[in-house]
Amino acid sequence: MAQDKKKALFICLGNICRSPIAEGVFQKTVNDLNLGDQWEIDSAAIGGWHVGNPPDWRALDTMKKHNVPYNNQARQIVKEDFNHYDYIFGMDEENMRDLNRKAPKGSKAQLLLFGEFDPQGERIIRDPYYDSDAKGFEKCYEQSVRCSKGFLESLTK
Ligand code: 4NP
Repeated sequence: MAQDKKKALFICLGNICRSPIAEGVFQKTVNDLNLGDQWEIDSAAIGGWHVGNPPDWRALDTMKKHNVPYNNQARQIVKEDFNHYDYIFGMDEENMRDLNRKAPKGSKAQLLLFGEFDPQGERIIRDPYYDSDAKGFEKCYEQSVRCSKGFLESLTK
């Protein structure tokens, strides 16, 4: 019998900056390790403002620059996600508060701060949406690379 896929959902406020980068980078990380067929990966928003939209152009540029394929649109998290996914990652403390508030009682998903898996200990992936340049997006990419590897390593311990 085929092993059930592990399921990971990446969350941020709008699903157009941080969580698409985290999703794309995590997908590329498992693909590069030949583990792509063992994972189901998606991202979603806390809020509904950008539903149906592609990521911010700076997020897309950053992913393109690093050869991270991305072809997803924003959606808002739904109740069912909390029992479908094994791991739901927030990017900052506000995301974690929102996730804990939205999670139905006794639901399956572990709610985890993505930055907890950064070996360099940078716990918060700051929201770069209101920045006047793309530096925060590059930083988000670098954090996502470290946290993706760190999380996968934590599963093998
Ligand atoms: P994200 O950034 O949560 O990283 O996608 C944001 C995008 C949009 C908004 C806030 C944060 N907004 O308020 O529209």
